[in-house]
Amino acid sequence: MQPPRGLPYPTQVTSAELIDVLWRDYVAKAPQAEEIRSVLTGRGEILCNDHVALRTFALPGIGGCALARPFETLGWRPRERYEFPRGVRARAWRHDDPALPGILISELAVDALSPRAQAVIDALIDQLPEGFGARSDLAWAGRPWRMRYTDYQLLRAESGYAAWVAAFGFLVNHFTVDAGALSTFPDLTALGAFLVEHGFALDDTAGGGFAGPRAEQIERAATRPDPIAVEFADATVRIPSCHYELVRRHPLPSGELFTGFVAASAGGAA
Ligand code: NI
Repeated sequence: MQPPRGLPYPTQVTSAELIDVLWRDYVAKAPQAEEIRSVLTGRGEILCNDHVALRTFALPGIGGCALARPFETLGWRPRERYEFPRGVRARAWRHDDPALPGILISELAVDALSPRAQAVIDALIDQLPEGFGARSDLAWAGRPWRMRYTDYQLLRAESGYAAWVAAFGFLVNHFTVDAGALSTFPDLTALGAFLVEHGFALDDTAGGGFAGPRAEQIERAATRPDPIAVEFADATVRIPSCHYELVRRHPLPSGELFTGFVAASAGGAA
């Protein structure tokens, strides 16, 4: 199914519909997420999304603030900021309706990259149509530039984050299953084992969650991204697209659930 593009805001879309639009756009690139949802609902689970993650370059007009606009219009409010490794900073947006997922928007400081990588990204940005950043469907507008596979490789050698944004443009990077809201899995390990049993591959580098002081408050696992064919100017190549994330949150000493984010062990952004 082709995801709808260019939906107007705010009057004709509800918050739940916006999340649904993003989900359909995402599973077009990451069909495993739809399959996993189907396997889990087939077992009787009702899935809750912990958060939806979006990525962009920290550049005027297309940075995190631009991506946040449709969410803010629908009631998500900006909350805490994060600094992740390798030039990535992020901010969380939350909605008063607890049934709606958090939105985690991260952006890469392009000037943290080498001059060669910056030149590649500059050449992509030069192709942006007038007014692109103001599009109401910016968060799922897709890739608005042409690029060469050799440039993708150059970026990937330096920053997987930069290469992903360059190759896919504007697209949800991942949805996240709230594993604590599932009723038939005692822990994240059991959920991971169930997915592996059903033929899904987990990302080893994400396994075991996080090191550091927050490790006791949040556990994380992720599937390996689906490889999909992407058309570059010089070749069509299968490259990793989006993963599906699994998160289990634990209580703080106060008894409240930890709601924050910590850097993914591999990706440099949660
Ligand atoms: Ni995440």
